[in-house]
Amino acid sequence: MRDNKPTPGEILIIGGGVFGISTAVALLERPQYRNTRINIVDTSSELPNQSAASWDTSRMLRADYAEAAYTKLVSEARKQWTNSDSNAWGGEGRYYDAPLLLTAQPGVLGHVDGYLERSLENLQKLAETRDFAFMPEDVKELADEDAIRAASGPIPGVSGNVGYINRNCGWVDARGCLRFLYQKLRHASKGKCKIHYGTTVCKLLYEGIAGSSINPARCIGAKTTNGSRIHADLTILAAGAWSPSLVDMQGRAEATGQILGYLTLTEEEQASLNNMPIYFNMSTGMFMFPAHNHELKLGRHGFGYQNPTPVILEGKRKLISTPISHLPVPTEAEDALRDFLVELFPHWRNKELSKTKLCWYCDTPNGDFLIDYHPDYKGLFLATGDSGHGVKVLPVIGEKIADSIEGKLDHTLQELWRWREDITAVFQGTSDGTRGGRRGMVFQEEWQKSKIRQEQ
Ligand SMILES: *[C@@H]1O[C@H](CO)[C@@H](O)[C@H](O)[C@H]1NC(C)=O
Ligand SMILES: *[C@@H]1O[C@H](CO)[C@@H](O)[C@H](O)[C@H]1NC(C)=O
Ligand SMILES: *[C@@H]1O[C@H](CO)[C@@H](O)[C@H](O)[C@H]1NC(C)=O
Repeated sequence: MRDNKPTPGEILIIGGGVFGISTAVALLERPQYRNTRINIVDTSSELPNQSAASWDTSRMLRADYAEAAYTKLVSEARKQWTNSDSNAWGGEGRYYDAPLLLTAQPGVLGHVDGYLERSLENLQKLAETRDFAFMPEDVKELADEDAIRAASGPIPGVSGNVGYINRNCGWVDARGCLRFLYQKLRHASKGKCKIHYGTTVCKLLYEGIAGSSINPARCIGAKTTNGSRIHADLTILAAGAWSPSLVDMQGRAEATGQILGYLTLTEEEQASLNNMPIYFNMSTGMFMFPAHNHELKLGRHGFGYQNPTPVILEGKRKLISTPISHLPVPTEAEDALRDFLVELFPHWRNKELSKTKLCWYCDTPNGDFLIDYHPDYKGLFLATGDSGHGVKVLPVIGEKIADSIEGKLDHTLQELWRWREDITAVFQGTSDGTRGGRRGMVFQEEWQKSKIRQEQ
Protein backbone atom coordinates (compact mmCIF):
# COMPACT_ATOMS: atom_id res chain seq x y z
CA MET A 1 0.00 0.00 0.00
CA ARG A 2 1.03 3.58 -0.52
CA ASP A 3 2.41 5.18 2.68
CA ASN A 4 3.06 1.62 3.92
CA LYS A 5 -0.46 1.51 5.26
CA PRO A 6 -1.75 -1.89 6.27
CA THR A 7 -4.30 -3.57 4.01
CA PRO A 8 -7.68 -2.03 4.84
CA GLY A 9 -10.01 -4.27 6.83
CA GLU A 10 -13.18 -2.61 5.54
CA ILE A 11 -13.55 -1.19 2.05
CA LEU A 12 -16.57 0.73 0.85
CA ILE A 13 -17.13 1.01 -2.89
CA ILE A 14 -19.66 3.64 -3.91
CA GLY A 15 -21.11 2.64 -7.28
CA GLY A 16 -21.83 -0.77 -8.77
CA GLY A 17 -20.82 -0.06 -12.38
CA VAL A 18 -17.82 -0.94 -14.50
CA PHE A 19 -15.16 0.70 -12.30
CA GLY A 20 -16.68 -0.25 -8.93
CA ILE A 21 -17.43 -3.91 -9.56
CA SER A 22 -14.25 -4.63 -11.52
CA THR A 23 -12.22 -3.09 -8.68
CA ALA A 24 -14.03 -5.31 -6.18
CA VAL A 25 -13.30 -8.40 -8.27
CA ALA A 26 -9.60 -7.50 -8.65
CA LEU A 27 -9.19 -6.87 -4.90
CA LEU A 28 -11.04 -10.05 -3.91
CA GLU A 29 -8.72 -12.07 -6.13
CA ARG A 30 -5.60 -10.70 -4.41
CA PRO A 31 -4.43 -12.81 -1.45
CA GLN A 32 -3.56 -9.82 0.75
CA TYR A 33 -7.24 -8.86 0.92
CA ARG A 34 -8.38 -12.27 2.17
CA ASN A 35 -9.43 -10.76 5.51
CA THR A 36 -10.94 -7.60 3.99
CA ARG A 37 -14.70 -7.02 3.90
CA ILE A 38 -16.09 -5.07 0.96
CA ASN A 39 -19.39 -3.20 0.93
CA ILE A 40 -20.70 -1.95 -2.40
CA VAL A 41 -23.58 0.52 -2.45
CA ASP A 42 -25.63 1.52 -5.44
CA THR A 43 -28.78 3.58 -5.83
CA SER A 44 -30.33 1.17 -8.26
CA SER A 45 -32.62 -1.58 -7.17
CA GLU A 46 -31.02 -3.58 -9.95
CA LEU A 47 -27.56 -3.23 -11.40
CA PRO A 48 -26.38 -1.52 -13.43
CA ASN A 49 -28.45 1.65 -13.31
CA GLN A 50 -30.08 2.10 -16.69
CA SER A 51 -29.21 5.81 -16.86
CA ALA A 52 -25.53 5.07 -16.34
CA ALA A 53 -22.88 4.82 -19.02
CA SER A 54 -22.51 1.11 -18.13
CA TRP A 55 -25.94 0.16 -19.33
CA ASP A 56 -26.82 -0.41 -22.94
CA THR A 57 -26.76 -2.69 -25.90
CA SER A 58 -23.49 -1.82 -27.52
CA ARG A 59 -20.13 -0.24 -26.88
CA MET A 60 -17.44 0.51 -29.37
CA LEU A 61 -14.10 -1.21 -28.94
CA ARG A 62 -11.65 0.99 -30.66
CA ALA A 63 -7.99 1.21 -29.86
CA ASP A 64 -7.90 4.30 -32.00
CA TYR A 65 -6.65 6.97 -29.68
CA ALA A 66 -4.35 9.91 -30.09
CA GLU A 67 -2.65 8.90 -26.82
CA ALA A 68 -0.44 5.83 -27.29
CA ALA A 69 -0.90 4.60 -23.71
CA TYR A 70 -4.64 4.16 -24.38
CA THR A 71 -4.07 2.42 -27.68
CA LYS A 72 -1.90 -0.01 -25.73
CA LEU A 73 -4.43 -0.40 -22.90
CA VAL A 74 -7.34 -1.09 -25.23
CA SER A 75 -5.17 -3.52 -27.16
CA GLU A 76 -4.57 -5.45 -23.94
CA ALA A 77 -8.30 -5.48 -23.32
CA ARG A 78 -8.93 -6.49 -26.90
CA LYS A 79 -6.92 -9.68 -26.51
CA GLN A 80 -9.46 -10.69 -23.87
CA TRP A 81 -12.48 -9.47 -25.82
CA THR A 82 -11.55 -11.55 -28.83
CA ASN A 83 -11.25 -14.74 -26.77
CA SER A 84 -14.60 -16.40 -27.39
CA ASP A 85 -14.45 -19.25 -24.86
CA SER A 86 -17.72 -19.30 -22.95
CA ASN A 87 -15.96 -18.32 -19.72
CA ALA A 88 -13.87 -15.59 -21.39
CA TRP A 89 -14.88 -11.95 -21.90
CA GLY A 90 -15.65 -12.43 -25.57
CA GLY A 91 -17.77 -15.54 -25.09
CA GLU A 92 -21.53 -16.10 -25.26
CA GLY A 93 -22.18 -13.27 -27.72
CA ARG A 94 -20.59 -10.52 -25.67
CA TYR A 95 -18.21 -9.46 -28.44
CA TYR A 96 -18.72 -8.82 -32.18
CA ASP A 97 -16.11 -8.09 -34.83
CA ALA A 98 -16.79 -5.06 -37.02
CA PRO A 99 -14.62 -2.64 -38.95
CA LEU A 100 -14.52 0.93 -37.70
CA LEU A 101 -14.86 3.72 -40.22
CA LEU A 102 -13.82 7.17 -39.03
CA THR A 103 -14.26 10.26 -41.12
CA ALA A 104 -13.83 13.98 -40.60
CA GLN A 105 -14.27 17.21 -42.41
CA PRO A 106 -11.47 19.53 -41.26
CA GLY A 107 -12.41 23.18 -41.22
CA VAL A 108 -16.11 22.80 -40.37
CA LEU A 109 -17.67 24.04 -37.15
CA GLY A 110 -17.20 21.53 -34.33
CA HIS A 111 -14.25 19.74 -35.89
CA VAL A 112 -11.10 19.40 -33.79
CA ASP A 113 -7.90 19.15 -35.83
CA GLY A 114 -5.26 16.51 -35.42
CA TYR A 115 -6.89 13.67 -33.50
CA LEU A 116 -7.76 11.46 -36.43
CA GLU A 117 -4.27 11.86 -37.88
CA ARG A 118 -2.50 11.11 -34.58
CA SER A 119 -4.76 8.18 -33.89
CA LEU A 120 -4.04 6.71 -37.33
CA GLU A 121 -0.32 7.18 -36.78
CA ASN A 122 -0.51 5.36 -33.41
CA LEU A 123 -2.36 2.45 -34.91
CA GLN A 124 0.17 2.16 -37.71
CA LYS A 125 3.07 2.27 -35.25
CA LEU A 126 1.38 -0.31 -33.06
CA ALA A 127 0.78 -2.55 -36.04
CA GLU A 128 4.47 -2.39 -36.94
CA THR A 129 5.50 -3.73 -33.52
CA ARG A 130 3.18 -6.75 -34.01
CA ASP A 131 3.04 -6.97 -30.24
CA PHE A 132 -0.64 -6.25 -30.20
CA ALA A 133 -3.68 -7.49 -31.99
CA PHE A 134 -3.13 -5.16 -34.96
CA MET A 135 -1.58 -5.92 -38.29
CA PRO A 136 -0.44 -3.24 -40.74
CA GLU A 137 -2.95 -4.44 -43.34
CA ASP A 138 -5.85 -3.90 -40.90
CA VAL A 139 -5.59 -0.14 -41.04
CA LYS A 140 -6.16 1.76 -44.23
CA GLU A 141 -6.04 5.49 -44.71
CA LEU A 142 -8.89 6.96 -46.76
CA ALA A 143 -7.46 10.08 -48.31
CA ASP A 144 -10.50 11.46 -50.12
CA GLU A 145 -14.25 11.25 -50.54
CA ASP A 146 -14.09 8.48 -53.12
CA ALA A 147 -11.96 6.26 -50.90
CA ILE A 148 -14.39 6.88 -48.03
CA ARG A 149 -17.40 5.99 -50.13
CA ALA A 150 -15.71 2.82 -51.32
CA ALA A 151 -15.12 1.74 -47.72
CA SER A 152 -18.57 2.50 -46.35
CA GLY A 153 -20.19 -0.84 -47.21
CA PRO A 154 -23.98 -0.78 -47.07
CA ILE A 155 -24.26 2.80 -45.72
CA PRO A 156 -24.99 4.99 -48.73
CA GLY A 157 -24.58 8.44 -47.16
CA VAL A 158 -21.17 8.37 -45.49
CA SER A 159 -19.32 11.60 -46.22
CA GLY A 160 -16.16 13.36 -45.13
CA ASN A 161 -12.95 14.27 -46.89
CA VAL A 162 -10.42 12.50 -44.70
CA GLY A 163 -10.65 9.25 -42.77
CA TYR A 164 -9.49 5.71 -42.25
CA ILE A 165 -10.90 2.26 -41.74
CA ASN A 166 -9.67 -0.11 -39.04
CA ARG A 167 -10.70 -3.65 -39.91
CA ASN A 168 -9.52 -5.00 -36.59
CA CYS A 169 -12.20 -3.54 -34.39
CA GLY A 170 -15.47 -4.51 -32.80
CA TRP A 171 -18.17 -3.79 -30.28
CA VAL A 172 -19.48 -5.42 -27.14
CA ASP A 173 -22.88 -6.01 -25.63
CA ALA A 174 -22.51 -3.86 -22.52
CA ARG A 175 -25.44 -5.42 -20.70
CA GLY A 176 -24.11 -8.94 -21.26
CA CYS A 177 -20.66 -7.83 -20.13
CA LEU A 178 -21.95 -6.36 -16.91
CA ARG A 179 -23.89 -9.52 -16.17
CA PHE A 180 -20.66 -11.45 -16.75
CA LEU A 181 -18.88 -9.06 -14.38
CA TYR A 182 -21.50 -9.63 -11.63
CA GLN A 183 -21.05 -13.36 -12.12
CA LYS A 184 -17.33 -12.90 -11.59
CA LEU A 185 -18.04 -10.91 -8.44
CA ARG A 186 -20.31 -13.61 -7.02
CA HIS A 187 -17.63 -16.15 -7.75
CA ALA A 188 -14.82 -14.11 -6.17
CA SER A 189 -16.84 -12.88 -3.20
CA LYS A 190 -16.96 -16.00 -1.03
CA GLY A 191 -19.15 -14.14 1.43
CA LYS A 192 -16.66 -11.27 1.85
CA CYS A 193 -18.49 -8.77 -0.35
CA LYS A 194 -21.98 -7.37 0.16
CA ILE A 195 -23.90 -5.31 -2.39
CA HIS A 196 -26.44 -2.87 -0.92
CA TYR A 197 -28.97 -2.30 -3.68
CA GLY A 198 -31.34 0.66 -3.66
CA THR A 199 -29.00 2.51 -1.31
CA THR A 200 -28.09 6.10 -2.05
CA VAL A 201 -25.08 7.77 -0.46
CA CYS A 202 -25.94 11.35 0.51
CA LYS A 203 -22.50 12.31 1.76
CA LEU A 204 -19.06 11.06 2.62
CA LEU A 205 -18.04 11.05 6.27
CA TYR A 206 -14.85 12.77 7.34
CA GLU A 207 -12.89 13.29 10.53
CA GLY A 208 -9.85 15.41 11.30
CA ILE A 209 -8.85 18.73 9.79
CA ALA A 210 -7.89 19.37 6.16
CA GLY A 211 -4.27 20.51 5.97
CA SER A 212 -3.42 19.56 9.55
CA SER A 213 -0.36 17.35 10.01
CA ILE A 214 -1.29 16.36 13.58
CA ASN A 215 -4.91 15.45 12.89
CA PRO A 216 -5.15 15.12 9.08
CA ALA A 217 -8.52 14.91 7.41
CA ARG A 218 -9.61 11.39 6.62
CA CYS A 219 -12.62 9.87 4.95
CA ILE A 220 -14.16 7.23 7.19
CA GLY A 221 -17.05 6.02 5.05
CA ALA A 222 -20.38 7.37 3.94
CA LYS A 223 -23.84 8.22 5.12
CA THR A 224 -26.84 6.94 3.18
CA THR A 225 -30.19 8.66 2.63
CA ASN A 226 -31.92 6.27 5.06
CA GLY A 227 -29.69 7.65 7.81
CA SER A 228 -27.32 4.71 8.25
CA ARG A 229 -23.56 5.06 8.22
CA ILE A 230 -21.21 2.65 6.54
CA HIS A 231 -17.72 2.87 7.98
CA ALA A 232 -14.62 2.01 6.01
CA ASP A 233 -10.83 2.22 6.22
CA LEU A 234 -10.78 2.83 2.49
CA THR A 235 -13.63 4.45 0.55
CA ILE A 236 -13.55 4.09 -3.23
CA LEU A 237 -15.70 6.55 -5.12
CA ALA A 238 -16.73 4.83 -8.35
CA ALA A 239 -20.10 6.46 -8.83
CA GLY A 240 -19.59 7.40 -12.49
CA ALA A 241 -21.62 10.46 -13.44
CA TRP A 242 -22.82 10.73 -9.83
CA SER A 243 -19.24 11.08 -8.48
CA PRO A 244 -19.01 14.89 -8.80
CA SER A 245 -22.07 15.27 -6.54
CA LEU A 246 -20.22 13.51 -3.70
CA VAL A 247 -16.71 14.97 -3.91
CA ASP A 248 -15.89 18.49 -5.05
CA MET A 249 -13.95 17.79 -8.25
CA GLN A 250 -13.15 21.50 -8.78
CA GLY A 251 -13.38 21.24 -12.55
CA ARG A 252 -11.68 17.82 -12.81
CA ALA A 253 -14.84 15.88 -13.64
CA GLU A 254 -18.41 16.61 -14.55
CA ALA A 255 -21.57 14.70 -15.42
CA THR A 256 -22.55 15.20 -19.07
CA GLY A 257 -25.64 13.81 -20.77
CA GLN A 258 -25.02 12.24 -24.18
CA ILE A 259 -27.80 11.37 -26.57
CA LEU A 260 -28.73 8.00 -28.03
CA GLY A 261 -31.40 6.92 -30.48
CA TYR A 262 -32.65 3.53 -31.67
CA LEU A 263 -34.36 2.47 -34.84
CA THR A 264 -36.30 -0.78 -35.18
CA LEU A 265 -35.55 -2.70 -38.38
CA THR A 266 -37.43 -5.37 -40.28
CA GLU A 267 -35.72 -8.61 -41.16
CA GLU A 268 -35.07 -7.40 -44.74
CA GLU A 269 -33.77 -4.03 -43.57
CA GLN A 270 -31.35 -5.72 -41.22
CA ALA A 271 -30.23 -8.11 -43.96
CA SER A 272 -29.54 -5.13 -46.23
CA LEU A 273 -26.98 -3.93 -43.68
CA ASN A 274 -24.77 -7.01 -43.65
CA ASN A 275 -21.09 -6.25 -43.01
CA MET A 276 -21.89 -2.73 -41.93
CA PRO A 277 -18.99 -0.90 -40.26
CA ILE A 278 -19.22 1.04 -37.03
CA TYR A 279 -19.31 4.61 -38.32
CA PHE A 280 -18.00 7.64 -36.46
CA ASN A 281 -18.14 11.18 -37.83
CA MET A 282 -15.40 12.86 -35.84
CA SER A 283 -16.50 16.37 -36.83
CA THR A 284 -19.96 16.07 -35.30
CA GLY A 285 -19.35 13.28 -32.76
CA MET A 286 -22.24 11.35 -34.33
CA PHE A 287 -21.80 7.58 -34.52
CA MET A 288 -23.76 4.49 -35.55
CA PHE A 289 -23.40 0.83 -34.62
CA PRO A 290 -23.98 -2.13 -36.93
CA ALA A 291 -27.57 -3.38 -36.95
CA HIS A 292 -28.17 -6.13 -34.41
CA ASN A 293 -31.31 -7.84 -33.11
CA HIS A 294 -33.39 -5.73 -35.51
CA GLU A 295 -32.12 -2.54 -34.00
CA LEU A 296 -29.85 0.23 -35.19
CA LYS A 297 -28.26 2.39 -32.52
CA LEU A 298 -26.97 5.89 -33.13
CA GLY A 299 -25.70 8.57 -30.82
CA ARG A 300 -23.50 11.56 -30.25
CA HIS A 301 -20.15 11.42 -28.48
CA GLY A 302 -20.12 15.16 -27.97
CA PHE A 303 -19.73 17.78 -25.26
CA GLY A 304 -23.06 16.67 -23.83
CA TYR A 305 -25.60 18.47 -21.69
CA GLN A 306 -24.88 19.78 -18.26
CA ASN A 307 -27.58 19.78 -15.63
CA PRO A 308 -26.50 22.28 -12.95
CA THR A 309 -28.13 21.45 -9.62
CA PRO A 310 -27.53 22.97 -6.15
CA VAL A 311 -25.61 20.48 -4.00
CA ILE A 312 -23.95 20.80 -0.59
CA LEU A 313 -20.36 19.58 -0.94
CA GLU A 314 -17.82 19.53 1.85
CA GLY A 315 -19.97 22.03 3.71
CA LYS A 316 -20.30 24.49 0.79
CA ARG A 317 -23.24 25.15 -1.49
CA LYS A 318 -22.26 24.47 -5.10
CA LEU A 319 -23.86 24.14 -8.53
CA ILE A 320 -22.95 20.70 -9.82
CA SER A 321 -24.13 18.94 -12.97
CA THR A 322 -26.09 15.85 -11.94
CA PRO A 323 -27.61 13.09 -14.06
CA ILE A 324 -31.30 13.36 -14.80
CA SER A 325 -33.33 10.38 -16.02
CA HIS A 326 -36.81 9.57 -17.19
CA LEU A 327 -37.24 12.52 -19.54
CA PRO A 328 -37.40 12.39 -23.33
CA VAL A 329 -34.44 14.06 -25.04
CA PRO A 330 -34.77 17.72 -26.14
CA THR A 331 -35.85 18.53 -29.71
CA GLU A 332 -32.27 19.59 -30.52
CA ALA A 333 -31.17 16.00 -29.84
CA GLU A 334 -33.98 14.39 -31.79
CA ASP A 335 -33.14 16.61 -34.75
CA ALA A 336 -29.45 15.70 -34.58
CA LEU A 337 -30.22 11.98 -34.44
CA ARG A 338 -32.77 12.16 -37.25
CA ASP A 339 -30.55 14.31 -39.51
CA PHE A 340 -27.70 11.85 -39.08
CA LEU A 341 -29.94 8.87 -39.82
CA VAL A 342 -31.40 10.48 -42.93
CA GLU A 343 -28.01 11.63 -44.18
CA LEU A 344 -26.72 8.07 -43.93
CA PHE A 345 -29.91 6.38 -45.19
CA PRO A 346 -31.88 8.86 -47.31
CA HIS A 347 -34.50 6.21 -48.13
CA TRP A 348 -35.45 5.99 -44.42
CA ARG A 349 -36.54 9.61 -44.35
CA ASN A 350 -40.00 8.68 -43.05
CA LYS A 351 -38.91 6.30 -40.32
CA GLU A 352 -39.44 7.18 -36.67
CA LEU A 353 -36.87 6.49 -33.98
CA SER A 354 -38.30 3.85 -31.64
CA LYS A 355 -36.57 5.29 -28.58
CA THR A 356 -34.23 8.06 -27.51
CA LYS A 357 -32.40 8.44 -24.22
CA LEU A 358 -29.61 10.13 -22.35
CA CYS A 359 -26.49 8.31 -21.25
CA TRP A 360 -24.55 10.07 -18.51
CA TYR A 361 -20.76 10.17 -18.72
CA CYS A 362 -18.39 11.34 -16.02
CA ASP A 363 -16.31 13.58 -18.26
CA THR A 364 -12.87 14.96 -17.49
CA PRO A 365 -11.12 17.89 -19.22
CA ASN A 366 -8.77 15.67 -21.25
CA GLY A 367 -10.94 12.57 -21.38
CA ASP A 368 -8.48 10.79 -19.05
CA PHE A 369 -9.83 8.61 -16.26
CA LEU A 370 -9.50 9.99 -12.73
CA ILE A 371 -7.99 7.12 -10.75
CA ASP A 372 -6.04 8.32 -7.72
CA TYR A 373 -6.11 9.00 -4.00
CA HIS A 374 -7.74 12.28 -3.05
CA PRO A 375 -4.87 14.56 -2.05
CA ASP A 376 -6.72 16.15 0.88
CA TYR A 377 -8.50 13.20 2.49
CA LYS A 378 -6.73 10.06 3.55
CA GLY A 379 -8.66 6.87 2.99
CA LEU A 380 -10.48 8.26 -0.07
CA PHE A 381 -9.72 6.84 -3.49
CA LEU A 382 -11.33 8.07 -6.72
CA ALA A 383 -12.05 5.63 -9.54
CA THR A 384 -14.11 7.66 -11.93
CA GLY A 385 -13.93 9.98 -14.96
CA ASP A 386 -14.90 7.29 -17.50
CA SER A 387 -15.38 10.00 -20.17
CA GLY A 388 -17.37 7.45 -22.13
CA HIS A 389 -14.48 4.97 -22.41
CA GLY A 390 -15.10 2.67 -19.43
CA VAL A 391 -16.63 -0.43 -20.98
CA LYS A 392 -13.98 -0.97 -23.63
CA VAL A 393 -11.31 -1.54 -20.99
CA LEU A 394 -13.56 -3.59 -18.71
CA PRO A 395 -11.43 -6.77 -18.78
CA VAL A 396 -8.34 -4.89 -17.55
CA ILE A 397 -9.47 -1.82 -15.63
CA GLY A 398 -10.11 -3.52 -12.26
CA GLU A 399 -6.51 -4.72 -12.09
CA LYS A 400 -5.24 -1.24 -13.02
CA ILE A 401 -7.37 0.39 -10.31
CA ALA A 402 -6.22 -2.18 -7.74
CA ASP A 403 -2.59 -1.53 -8.78
CA SER A 404 -3.16 2.19 -8.36
CA ILE A 405 -4.66 1.65 -4.88
CA GLU A 406 -1.49 -0.23 -3.98
CA GLY A 407 0.73 2.47 -5.51
CA LYS A 408 2.17 0.21 -8.20
CA LEU A 409 0.38 1.29 -11.36
CA ASP A 410 2.80 1.87 -14.22
CA HIS A 411 4.08 5.40 -14.37
CA THR A 412 2.49 6.51 -17.68
CA LEU A 413 -1.03 5.53 -16.65
CA GLN A 414 -0.58 6.94 -13.17
CA GLU A 415 0.42 10.27 -14.67
CA LEU A 416 -2.57 10.26 -17.05
CA TRP A 417 -5.09 9.37 -14.36
CA ARG A 418 -3.82 11.36 -11.39
CA TRP A 419 -5.63 14.13 -9.56
CA ARG A 420 -4.23 17.05 -11.50
CA GLU A 421 -3.30 20.35 -9.93
CA ASP A 422 -3.11 22.16 -13.29
CA ILE A 423 -6.86 22.30 -13.90
CA THR A 424 -9.02 25.40 -14.18
CA ALA A 425 -11.68 25.35 -11.48
CA VAL A 426 -14.53 25.52 -13.98
CA PHE A 427 -15.21 22.57 -16.24
CA GLN A 428 -15.02 23.68 -19.88
CA GLY A 429 -16.00 20.48 -21.64
CA THR A 430 -13.87 17.51 -22.63
CA SER A 431 -11.16 18.47 -25.10
CA ASP A 432 -9.85 15.04 -25.99
CA GLY A 433 -10.31 15.74 -29.67
CA THR A 434 -12.98 13.08 -30.14
CA ARG A 435 -15.92 15.30 -29.29
CA GLY A 436 -17.72 17.16 -32.01
CA GLY A 437 -20.70 19.49 -32.26
CA ARG A 438 -21.88 22.23 -29.90
CA ARG A 439 -20.33 23.06 -26.54
CA GLY A 440 -21.92 24.30 -23.34
CA MET A 441 -25.49 23.06 -23.73
CA VAL A 442 -27.57 23.12 -20.57
CA PHE A 443 -30.22 20.42 -20.37
CA GLN A 444 -32.96 22.59 -18.88
CA GLU A 445 -32.44 25.32 -21.50
CA GLU A 446 -32.63 22.87 -24.40
CA TRP A 447 -35.63 21.22 -22.80
CA GLN A 448 -37.34 24.61 -22.42
CA LYS A 449 -36.73 25.38 -26.11
CA SER A 450 -38.30 22.03 -27.01
CA LYS A 451 -41.43 22.88 -25.06
CA ILE A 452 -41.70 26.24 -26.79
CA ARG A 453 -41.40 24.53 -30.17
CA GLN A 454 -44.08 22.00 -29.23
CA GLU A 455 -46.46 24.74 -28.19
CA GLN A 456 -46.07 26.66 -31.47
C1 LIG B 1 -30.68 5.18 -11.22
O1 LIG B 1 -30.17 6.26 -10.45
C2 LIG B 1 -31.05 7.35 -10.34
C3 LIG B 1 -30.34 8.48 -9.62
O2 LIG B 1 -29.74 8.07 -8.45
C4 LIG B 1 -32.31 6.92 -9.64
O3 LIG B 1 -33.21 8.00 -9.57
C5 LIG B 1 -32.94 5.77 -10.42
O4 LIG B 1 -34.05 5.29 -9.72
C6 LIG B 1 -31.93 4.65 -10.60
N1 LIG B 1 -32.52 3.62 -11.45
C7 LIG B 1 -32.95 2.45 -11.00
C8 LIG B 1 -33.50 1.49 -12.01
O5 LIG B 1 -32.90 2.11 -9.83
C1 LIG C 1 -20.05 14.62 -40.86
O1 LIG C 1 -19.76 15.88 -40.32
C2 LIG C 1 -19.58 16.92 -41.27
C3 LIG C 1 -19.15 18.13 -40.50
O2 LIG C 1 -20.13 18.63 -39.65
C4 LIG C 1 -20.85 17.14 -42.05
O3 LIG C 1 -20.68 18.15 -42.98
C5 LIG C 1 -21.21 15.83 -42.73
O4 LIG C 1 -22.43 15.99 -43.38
C6 LIG C 1 -21.32 14.71 -41.72
N1 LIG C 1 -21.56 13.47 -42.42
C7 LIG C 1 -22.31 12.52 -41.91
C8 LIG C 1 -22.54 11.32 -42.77
O5 LIG C 1 -22.79 12.58 -40.81
C1 LIG D 1 -30.36 1.59 5.36
O1 LIG D 1 -29.70 1.00 4.24
C2 LIG D 1 -28.67 0.07 4.58
C3 LIG D 1 -27.98 -0.32 3.30
O2 LIG D 1 -28.90 -0.87 2.37
C4 LIG D 1 -29.27 -1.09 5.32
O3 LIG D 1 -28.27 -2.03 5.65
C5 LIG D 1 -29.92 -0.57 6.58
O4 LIG D 1 -30.56 -1.61 7.24
C6 LIG D 1 -30.93 0.53 6.26
N1 LIG D 1 -31.31 1.17 7.52
C7 LIG D 1 -32.56 1.49 7.80
C8 LIG D 1 -32.78 2.20 9.09
O5 LIG D 1 -33.51 1.23 7.05
